[in-house]
Amino acid sequence: MYITKEPAELQRRADRKVSGLVALPSGLNITMYLLQEGFITGGITMYRKKVLTLILSATLAMTALSACGSAREGSAPAEAPAANEAAADTSADAKTDNAQDTSEAAPAGAGFEAGATIGISLPWLGTQNWKEAETMFTEQLTEAGYNPIVQAADQKVPQQQQQIESMIENGAKAIVVGPIDGTQLGSVLEQAKAAGVYVIGYDRLIENTEAVDGVVQFGSVRTGVMQGQALLDGLKEKKGEGPYNVELFGGGPADPNAPNFFKGAMSVLQPEIDAGNIVIVSGQTDFTQCATEDWDNSKAQKRMDSLLAGNYSDKEIDGVLSPNDGIGRAIITSCEDAGQQIPVVTGLDAENESVEWVWQGKQYCTVAKPTQDLVAKTVEIINSLQAGNGMPATDVSTNNGKIDVPIYELDPVVVTKDNAKEVFANDPDRMALLK
Ligand code: BGC
Repeated sequence: MYITKEPAELQRRADRKVSGLVALPSGLNITMYLLQEGFITGGITMYRKKVLTLILSATLAMTALSACGSAREGSAPAEAPAANEAAADTSADAKTDNAQDTSEAAPAGAGFEAGATIGISLPWLGTQNWKEAETMFTEQLTEAGYNPIVQAADQKVPQQQQQIESMIENGAKAIVVGPIDGTQLGSVLEQAKAAGVYVIGYDRLIENTEAVDGVVQFGSVRTGVMQGQALLDGLKEKKGEGPYNVELFGGGPADPNAPNFFKGAMSVLQPEIDAGNIVIVSGQTDFTQCATEDWDNSKAQKRMDSLLAGNYSDKEIDGVLSPNDGIGRAIITSCEDAGQQIPVVTGLDAENESVEWVWQGKQYCTVAKPTQDLVAKTVEIINSLQAGNGMPATDVSTNNGKIDVPIYELDPVVVTKDNAKEVFANDPDRMALLK
């Protein structure tokens, strides 16, 4: 074997040999030429066909990389946690390995190296489930040998877009996203797809884009049905015969889960409203009237204060539909402040404080959607992708406005004082709160 020391000669040979196949940036031609001539093999046997595959994939990768670079121009630098630096150090290796993998397998089912960088983009850390996800993803991905970059975006869409861009730049092979706004990530996720990154939605649907491979969640309409049914059961159990005075709350309108929780609950409550068994005293029954911007508990508490002041000076409130635990506790506090008896209030997340309140009989119920199960399911999917087995099969899908997205759905559980010990039997932390 020989490699000429004369760069111009090397370039000339490379261009003659390789450029007939496909137009390449000239520096890359040299690499391809050396590969084709067998001067460098990268540990794998190179046949002409494989060289062509490699050329094509390398060209795609370079196009994607330059697209990422230009998309980032002009944007503020994303937060750079220590993990990002580590990821940046390994990303060059990762890209080389990826080019080799691509030559061995079809891109659709292409696996990636065992220690790959995995991005986790969370919407915020304002409720317990997201804090748990932050910790559990970091622990479980590290344990499985990956290099996790876990970030939360404080309810700010541009921040989440930048964090995802930076994950792509750091060579992430899969990015898991709990979107702040289900409709606002299309272009950055399309960049991810162009770079060959798998995109998995976490807990929330990613809407209006083809750039999503699947979503892991608890089924938001189903969860809402449970909340509506639990409210009705609680009213019958705690308040005797109807009609019942009730108010309705929804979650953050940008979160694709929130309208679905509300829709599911209303499928149970609307017939009772129509029959006169439930009276919405304020008359506010549209999601837009009931939604709580950014899932902000203090905004929910203010709305409850004014609903009570405006409608309940001479009435007792019997029940309130709450989309999650934080808002549920805000509603209960508002009722206490207004001198009302505590109404039947629903929730979601089995947050520690609400588990205590359910146990004390202060909050009627919550819905448990265990973060450890959702994270474990997501890591299982990442392992399947890493091994080159693609996305696991599932029978469930949801149309996101553009495509039918495969959904990996887990089962939520309604928790009341009656079944709390049963539900949390395998959760020592929550069990410890039942005393
Ligand atoms: C999640 C809930 C959470 C809420 C606010 C929803 O998308 O499903 O678990 O309480 O966001 O963070």
